[in-house]
Amino acid sequence: MTSQASRKEVNQQPTQEFNQQLLEFIERSPTPFHATQNIASMLEDAGFEQLAEGDEWSLNEGGRYYLTRNDSSIIAFIQGVSTNTASSSLDVGIRMVGAHTDSPTLMVKPQPEKIKDYFQLGVEVYGGALLNPWFDRDLSIAGRVVYRDKQSNSLNKRLINFQRPVATIPSLAIHLDREANKNRTVNPQTDIPPILFEAGSDECKDFRTLLARQLLSEHDDLKDTPDIEVFDYELCFYDTQAPAQIGLNNDFIASARLDNLLSCFCGLQALLKVCADSQTPQTCMLVCTDHEEVGSASACGAQGPMLQTTLERMLPDGQARARAISRSLMISADNAHGVHPNYASKHDGNHVPVLNRGPVLKINANQRYATTSVTAALFRQWCELQAVPLQSFVTRTDLGCGSTIGPITATQIGVPTLDVGVPTFAMHSIRELAGSQDGYDLSRVMTACFNHQGPIGIA
Ligand code: CO
Repeated sequence: MTSQASRKEVNQQPTQEFNQQLLEFIERSPTPFHATQNIASMLEDAGFEQLAEGDEWSLNEGGRYYLTRNDSSIIAFIQGVSTNTASSSLDVGIRMVGAHTDSPTLMVKPQPEKIKDYFQLGVEVYGGALLNPWFDRDLSIAGRVVYRDKQSNSLNKRLINFQRPVATIPSLAIHLDREANKNRTVNPQTDIPPILFEAGSDECKDFRTLLARQLLSEHDDLKDTPDIEVFDYELCFYDTQAPAQIGLNNDFIASARLDNLLSCFCGLQALLKVCADSQTPQTCMLVCTDHEEVGSASACGAQGPMLQTTLERMLPDGQARARAISRSLMISADNAHGVHPNYASKHDGNHVPVLNRGPVLKINANQRYATTSVTAALFRQWCELQAVPLQSFVTRTDLGCGSTIGPITATQIGVPTLDVGVPTFAMHSIRELAGSQDGYDLSRVMTACFNHQGPIGIA
């Protein structure tokens, strides 16, 4: 039996369970708002207590806490316990895992109605979406809505998710574009406004009225206050096809938003595992932020102050905080490009990550990734400890390189950081593909990092 096959065998059942929960999580999380809500509810189930940014915090040793910002970013942490074995954050630093909650998508414009023969909605492209796969899909709509209750004259907000397919973007027939298989381009302003219904089949011509109707049908508790007026929203389209384990031998998982809800889920499971297993865990942290796909520059993005402010409130003394950060580590987790067998020349021949052969360390001399030899070596050790194979990625020298929250966080906080992720195909498509082994393995290595005893680093 090859080591690849035996690795599969040994972890078969926990990997299956992990994947099933992962796919359910992604399906229930069509937007960063839903992802944040779902992460929060899993944390609550594990005894984490919500902190409000507007309140004064008093944190207890051994306490489990989380906070959200903009309903779309979330930080969770276990406050380490000071013991004789010196596991407080001051002594041994903070183990952090970071990922992002957002994915490229189509977002509804503020005055979106386009009505002629059909009711269509104008959209903005969010992030670097691969647009071709959006055609001929059964699409739904989800996001956050702010409305006024006319009786009390109060503003309120709710998440919304139509769930069923309510829209589609049909392709143009090949007969009307004979060049479609050679030179097809997509104009995002004119080619992709989704169609919701035939004009006249619904008396409603105003999108906000449609939203009010959906709010009332989705939230039972609003039945008593049916007089509501939708003011504003952040809404996106998503594919209703459920995530699935696929391939003749179930080697793959196919889903929207694997980049990067897969990494969020890996980090969350690692944190929950530490809670379940350890009586006196060290200070461990999960940081899942929004807006990575558009550069992370926002109040709740990785370029904003959310993490810095949280660290200041955990360790108010500047001297102590600086000492703790120097002994800490951030694993920035975001998917990597596996080598596509049909396009292998897009990779450097010595750096060819394959699906199901383990997580991928991402390295870039120009600091598009934050990995250093020290942080890479630490990660490599935890992989060995867990018998998880490790691959590495560096972009072709004649191609540009993507980036992640890793370098941004390292720049903001000064924390030693590494970039890693599971290899995937079709990144930023409406349906991406990953290996069915790699997520569980990455999560186990994160757990090993959380459980690392003593200060992190090489003296
Ligand atoms: Co990503």
